[in-house]
Amino acid sequence: MCGIVGYIGNKKAAPILLAGLSKLEYRGYDSAGLAIIENEKIVVEKDKGRVKNLYNIKAIEELNGTIGIAHTRWATHGVPSKENAHPHIDNSGNFAVVHNGIIENYSELRTFLEANDYKFISATDTEVIPNLIHYFYTKDIKEDEYRLLRAVKSTADKLIGSFAIEVISKNEPNNMIVVRKDSPLVIGKGYGESYIASDIPAILSYTKDFYLLENLEFVLLDRDKIRFFDNDLKEFEKKPTTITWNAMAADKNGYEDYMLKEIYEQPRAIRETIGTRIEDNACKFDELNFSKEYLSNIKQIYIVACGTAMHAGITAKNAIENLCKIHTEVEVASEFRYTNQLIDENTLCIFISQSGETADTIAALKLSKMKKAKTIAITNVIGSSITREADYSLYTHAGPEIAVASTKAYTSQITLLILLAIYFAEVLNSESEDILQKLIKELCSLPNKVEKVLEEADKVKEIAKKLYKEKDIFYIGRGIDYATAQEASLKLKEISYIHSESYAAGELKHGPIALIEKGINEIGIITDESLVKKSISNMEEIITREALTTLVVSDDIVPNIDTNQFTNVIIVPSTEVFVSPIITIVPLQLLAYYISKEKGLDVDKPRNLAKSVTVE
Ligand code: F6R
Repeated sequence: MCGIVGYIGNKKAAPILLAGLSKLEYRGYDSAGLAIIENEKIVVEKDKGRVKNLYNIKAIEELNGTIGIAHTRWATHGVPSKENAHPHIDNSGNFAVVHNGIIENYSELRTFLEANDYKFISATDTEVIPNLIHYFYTKDIKEDEYRLLRAVKSTADKLIGSFAIEVISKNEPNNMIVVRKDSPLVIGKGYGESYIASDIPAILSYTKDFYLLENLEFVLLDRDKIRFFDNDLKEFEKKPTTITWNAMAADKNGYEDYMLKEIYEQPRAIRETIGTRIEDNACKFDELNFSKEYLSNIKQIYIVACGTAMHAGITAKNAIENLCKIHTEVEVASEFRYTNQLIDENTLCIFISQSGETADTIAALKLSKMKKAKTIAITNVIGSSITREADYSLYTHAGPEIAVASTKAYTSQITLLILLAIYFAEVLNSESEDILQKLIKELCSLPNKVEKVLEEADKVKEIAKKLYKEKDIFYIGRGIDYATAQEASLKLKEISYIHSESYAAGELKHGPIALIEKGINEIGIITDESLVKKSISNMEEIITREALTTLVVSDDIVPNIDTNQFTNVIIVPSTEVFVSPIITIVPLQLLAYYISKEKGLDVDKPRNLAKSVTVE
């Protein structure tokens, strides 16, 4: 869960590396550093804290070297400190390495190296890598252009775990070697230069042509050439992929924070996700093209994901079961792996991951494949690891999501899942044409409705001003609104650090109501007409106990209730129940955002979190 950047070309490397790191900070931000080949020496500069600290290091400004590697860290082994920050160099000072991932067998490797007189300065798992490279490099007697490549390959053979690594060496000052296994790495192709990064947005302003590296593909770069080698070090040709996002999509574009920008991008993201998947009032998925016979054999569906992506799954369960009549379970990926799920070749497992790199989700996918289930990955990142594992991959087209707190990815994921449910129902003929048509129509109207909600942002900001000093905030809802409550509560806690819980409204009186007392704040969501009476009486139980209530309610319900009894009311446009969370979550994302701003917190980079969770 770190970010890495590399540059090899004719420009000064340092500014390019720092700019790339700043864009990757969402992956980790407790320390940062770079290594540059300067006058045939390796210069390493690093420090604890954010990338901006590196901008204040005078020595970095003075570096003219044109080959370099850089890293922003999310600590796994060893506390955030200068010693533990990357790059790490070997004992001879000849090899520098940055690494994203986890070396699971690092302590055995360290013992081996210590027995060979290597010394260690840091507490990281990474430091074994440059020393192993040195070990193999010095043992190799063939002095040809592949010597460093062979040393990196021998090192990779010894590593158990996940890694994306960049290596530079004083001995081969015009080369760089990169390789990945289960951690992302892309190479951007320029003219006489190459850019390397953990993800595309970090280097999107320099090129649109990217090589998406597969596991254990080794790359030997010099200024003019990018050469690819397989795991037997046989050279092969690789075709670049051209990316259509523009650099602005990965910039703040005038917004104060990425999160706010991404909240406002939701109408566009939903439109793009629907894209060409609706044609002649029907849903189509060219990527799947399932037959009735194929889908009829599916007896159960598992949706597996983490965090917000899992909440998207919870939201869609209802639609899938109702429209397709297939029993559907939603599981947290980190748990799915350790419970003996009864899955077989008649099970369809859908894995959702914005980043496509979440270790738990990928591990769950691999397990399902072992059990012969059919697998679909839903992700936002083209070529991400999950797409290489799944039988089928479906992309949301939300555009790069940079803020750690997921917003537009969530609404796009729900959109895609509902489209998928409609598509399955069409193929299976399991739901009436009328109902499916109504839902398709409603899906297409969602972007405009979300725009309407965004126009009310100032009202939400005023409510945030009343709530930001709270210690606890509870969210309740019934049915589909409970699904929204879960996501709203996660959004609040992760960026405001306010303790928050979500409950199914009917569950309150089975325990949690003991927490309700005078002055406590509770947020209730009511969008399902069939549940209004019951939901209102749950809110009244809270009001009776002198708690303060904020009601999020759809406009068609307002005439049937007495809104005066609530402390705050947020009215949202009504829609079909299955898709209502796409609208209802928006004011609640804004509420979490404005509360975090009122508290003066870093909204985009909440403490202890990273965007891409590549550790289990
Ligand atoms: C919360 C959030 C996380 C992610 C989770 C899964 O705002 O972003 O809960 O949803 O870490 O990440 P992906 O979707 O990349 O697998």
